[in-house]
Amino acid sequence: MKLDRRLSAVASLVRPGAVLADIGTDHAYLPAYLVQAGVCPRAIAADLRKGPLQNADSTIASCGLGDVITTRLSDGLDSFGPNDFDDVVLAGMGGLLITELLMRAPWLRNGAKRIIAQPMRHPWAVRQFFYENGFALVREICVADGSRCYCAMAAEYTGRQTPLTPALPYVGTLRPQQSEETARFLFWQRKQLQTRRDALLAADPDSAEGRELTTILADFDRLTKGDTP
Ligand SMILES: C[S@@+](CC[C@H](N)C(=O)[O-])C[C@H]1O[C@@H](n2cnc3c(N)ncnc32)[C@H](O)[C@@H]1O
Repeated sequence: MKLDRRLSAVASLVRPGAVLADIGTDHAYLPAYLVQAGVCPRAIAADLRKGPLQNADSTIASCGLGDVITTRLSDGLDSFGPNDFDDVVLAGMGGLLITELLMRAPWLRNGAKRIIAQPMRHPWAVRQFFYENGFALVREICVADGSRCYCAMAAEYTGRQTPLTPALPYVGTLRPQQSEETARFLFWQRKQLQTRRDALLAADPDSAEGRELTTILADFDRLTKGDTP
């Protein structure tokens, strides 16, 4: 089992020895890789739909991992409880959906668990959820694969909320000097904010959202220059 760069980044955030739940698993490549590599002793591969779970079952069978990886039909974490896993992955879905699924599982506020998220869009929404709900971002990794840049993040519950500054959800713990790929991700993120701000202010110089984006961009520059929030 070989993972692409995006899923490799996600896999590197799973703690050795952790029992894993992979929510929205589709082909179950991630749990199959992590169990085969000896990182996870056991895993549950979960999906909302039967089709992806059939894909998961065939991967698991072809790797001979049927005794250590089970599949589960579940809408997010709705069919899970606190004793099912140590680390949970939600990868390859939108950030707004990931946030909604996390909100529905308040029992994840448990310092022994690690949540690993890899949103395809709106990563700021996931960071904002973590910061506002007492989770600390313990590590973030950016990787480029083809023309796209992805960000994977690991969070653990501390019970302490992080005060938000305007750009913190967009920047998180990322700093351009961490890697060339992190710099690329931040550049892309800033460009998206700036393009939206410029379009709003061109249409209406008094746009409240446009002015808010100007504040966000100034804070973005402050954070990425190395200032602490
Ligand atoms: C693009 S695939 C991602 C597969 C894999 N996690 C990855 O990162 O490559 C998204 C998967 O999430 C599943 N999904 C979407 N909404 C879900 C939900 N509410 N609960 C569980 N799985 C969901 C879809 O059925 C699909 O299999």
